[in-house]
Amino acid sequence: MNLVTRILQVDPLHPERSKIGIAARIIRKGGLVAFPTETVYGLGANALDTNAARKIFRAKNRPADNPLIVHINKIQQLEQIAVNVPHRIQTIAEKVWPGPVTFLLYKSDTVPDLVCGNTGKIAVRMPAHPIALALIESSGVPIAAPSANTSTKPSPTNSRHVMSDLGGKIDLVLDGGDTFFGVESTIIDSTSNPYTLLRPGAYSLEELKKYFGKIRVPRAVRDARESKVAIVPGMKYRHYAPRKPLYMVSRSFLENSPDLCLDPRIEIICSQELSKTLGSSNQRIIVLGSEKDLYEIARNLFGSFRKLDSLHVKFGLIQTFEEKGIGLAIMNRIKKASTKEPSSSIAF
Ligand code: TXA
Ligand code: MG
Repeated sequence: MNLVTRILQVDPLHPERSKIGIAARIIRKGGLVAFPTETVYGLGANALDTNAARKIFRAKNRPADNPLIVHINKIQQLEQIAVNVPHRIQTIAEKVWPGPVTFLLYKSDTVPDLVCGNTGKIAVRMPAHPIALALIESSGVPIAAPSANTSTKPSPTNSRHVMSDLGGKIDLVLDGGDTFFGVESTIIDSTSNPYTLLRPGAYSLEELKKYFGKIRVPRAVRDARESKVAIVPGMKYRHYAPRKPLYMVSRSFLENSPDLCLDPRIEIICSQELSKTLGSSNQRIIVLGSEKDLYEIARNLFGSFRKLDSLHVKFGLIQTFEEKGIGLAIMNRIKKASTKEPSSSIAF
């Protein structure tokens, strides 16, 4: 595939209709458009067109058994793509959508098997981003969109990340600036009893429990690193990962190893608070944000993985965070991105 990828700057709050119209025409013709959502950038194609969906897999180098999330802009569109939607899920969807929650449902015959990885089930969400909503509306079709990165790489939180992975492989990028959350949506299996968390994400589990009551959290989701069981097909692949080795270490490990900061082979990724105790003049620290604002940490997380790869260091050390609120998603991504050996086995 050798395309000229066009980039259009779009106002994220009031998307220009003419620009959305250009993108929608590409979607209707079976092309690929990357666009911002409130979580990460998505790589969109017409979800009802097998050939268009196939292009997504090719551009991302994504295994065919890893299905795509389908994005809608009106709750009524559910009827077109899903069957036997529980009344309870419909009611919860009306409360949390548009927003970063994806429901796994039974698919209807209109949706190609390729989009759903031959599982008979479809993952659906309504994104809370004016550009995404305008694009779906103007295209007139549901849009299949995985994160707009090359498979296994960190998800893109701005158009530069998208271009560095997919430039020349897709038709268009709608550039609406940085995404808001920086981690992907929370996925709930609504076909299981009790409902099950498949992927922690931007919408916190604590908040979702207010609507669902009970949500089962499989061990494999909590211990993302140790598990050999794939909860969703995508989770069995190495994910979100920088090319350089990344080791997950506790705050106290870093505090008690001041010499690490002076080692030119190492880049430390940590909070502002910790960076101050380590010596803020150090050039080998990537600051994620304040520990008091885990949303800020989440927003900068994937960018920090990409930054690590661009630096002349051997490996990275990343601080762990509390698994509360969006912290559960942050830690899930850190566990999946990091190298499996414990920090004690690092040869300094
Ligand atoms: O926030 C998000 O969810 C972003 C934005 C673009 O909407 N999308 C996203 O898509 O993260 P992706 O493809 O990178 O991750 C989707 C995850 C994968 O782990 C995939 O295996 C799972 O959802 N998934 C999708 N459809 C599924 C299905 N039918 N059955 C089981 N798992 C499914
Ligand atoms: Mg992804």
